[in-house]
Amino acid sequence: MGFIVAVDGPAGSGKGTITKKIAEEMNLTSIDTGAMYRSVTLAMLKRNIKVDEIDKISNLLEQIKIEFKKIENDQKVFLNGKDVSLEIRTKQVNENVSPVSAIGIVRTKMADLQREMAKTIDVIMEGRDIGTNVFPNADVKIYLDATPEERAKRRYLQNKENGIEIPFEEILENVKQRDYIDSTREIAPLKKAEDAIYIDSSNMSIDEVVNEIKQIIIKKRTE
Ligand code: DC
Repeated sequence: MGFIVAVDGPAGSGKGTITKKIAEEMNLTSIDTGAMYRSVTLAMLKRNIKVDEIDKISNLLEQIKIEFKKIENDQKVFLNGKDVSLEIRTKQVNENVSPVSAIGIVRTKMADLQREMAKTIDVIMEGRDIGTNVFPNADVKIYLDATPEERAKRRYLQNKENGIEIPFEEILENVKQRDYIDSTREIAPLKKAEDAIYIDSSNMSIDEVVNEIKQIIIKKRTE
């Protein structure tokens, strides 16, 4: 295993932006595990597979190929060879991803893939269960949080930048709903690992959070 930084936290806590920045500045590979659950969700929606059709999901998981590729300094997600980076952010995927990510065989497969990805490289991996389940022995564990309102605001602006128009109230409702499902599910729920460092980013700028985490990583690397 390489050096592993685990960043967990709820939807819109800033994990994505912050992880990518730190990766660039510290020579780590960033891995957005939410994009992997989103890709599985998209694949299921396309094939009209429901969350209780376990045999079909199992088949799908055997065929599915999820890859990250860096294109023009931007990390893109490929599902079976097709760039789905934008398609995995639509309202339909938002509304279905939490139930899909609560399915046991989906989680097992994604966690295996995530461990495989980190075998030979140094990574900063963001998600919900990286420090608790995927890498309980990660070198650095961060739990990034912010109020639901602040997180919904960030998602709203992020969508706008990507040309996706979803009303703020709808996003806030979806954020709260996903918080609830993600943190109460039976398998690998969203929670802070006991040894994770808690950062509330509600009133912090991106650079402030990036710098705080960078200091933690530098300290750990020189230990
Ligand atoms: O970070 P995100 O909003 O793109 O994640 C999408 C969904 O995927 C989220 O509602 C919960 C799920 N997820 C998960 O269960 N475990 C992870 N490690 C990452 C994401």
